[in-house]
Amino acid sequence: MKRSLVAIALAASSISALAGFVLAKDSSNKDALPPGSVSQTDGLKAWKRIEAVVTHPRCANCHVDANAIPIWTPAGETKPRVHGMNIHGGESRIGAEALVCSTCHVTSTFPNEPAPAPPHAGIDWQLAPVEFIWFGKTGAEICTQLRDPKRNGGRDAVGLLEHLRHDASLNGFIPRSWDPGTGRTTPPGTFEDHVKDVALWGAAG
Ligand code: HEC
Ligand code: HEC
Repeated sequence: MKRSLVAIALAASSISALAGFVLAKDSSNKDALPPGSVSQTDGLKAWKRIEAVVTHPRCANCHVDANAIPIWTPAGETKPRVHGMNIHGGESRIGAEALVCSTCHVTSTFPNEPAPAPPHAGIDWQLAPVEFIWFGKTGAEICTQLRDPKRNGGRDAVGLLEHLRHDASLNGFIPRSWDPGTGRTTPPGTFEDHVKDVALWGAAG
């Protein structure tokens, strides 16, 4: 009797573990839309909105080339210019060769203070890897690059959606761009709008 109860308990727990796994898998893809379910026209419209986000200084200022010079757009300004104080990301992209970014950009999930306080996020401040360069690129170039697994961290459309959610779960750079501290401009729309647009664009192929 006892043994069969244990067996039932074990079976029940493994079923719930399985169900949990299936649920978790579904929920991690809950943003994705079935491929082909979105028209080319709607996909292109979504891309235009994505383009306005990824070329916005709040995103592009970190996605710079191999010169590794961060860009900033202080409060009250709309145009990007070279980061003050001679800061250099180096090959490490975190400034390890000279002055590390975290000297000023602390790692913190607290809301960003008003400019000119250095912005922070829940992950260590750093430049995006060289192959993710957006700064100074046209929308069309970024579009091609985002679909090229060699230049987007090996991600497909669902992988890009997962990256957005993963970054948000860590209070990372992406949702923070819409909450950069009083005084700084934000990309158009909201973080959730951006996730929806990436899903539309991905499903339109
Ligand atoms: C503080 C610097 C910083 C800011 C600001 C920033 N990023 Fe990034 N981004 C990074 C780093 C670092 C990576 C590499 C992380 C990884 O691959 O796990 C990255 C990677 C990415 C990737 C995946 C790789 C790719 O290029 O396909 C996407 C998508 C992305 N960022 C989108 C954004 C968007 C959208 C914004 C603005 C809303 C933004 N980032 C703002 C630093 C930044
Ligand atoms: C000596 C302090 C200091 C260091 C070190 C530093 N920063 Fe900054 N950074 C700042 C300050 C202050 C601002 C805010 C300027 C403003 O908005 O008025 C800023 C802004 C930025 C911005 C602009 C963010 C935006 O939304 O426009 C980026 C990108 C940036 N820093 C990247 C870096 C990177 C990458 C490193 C390391 C390689 C780094 N910084 C090192 C002080 C610093």
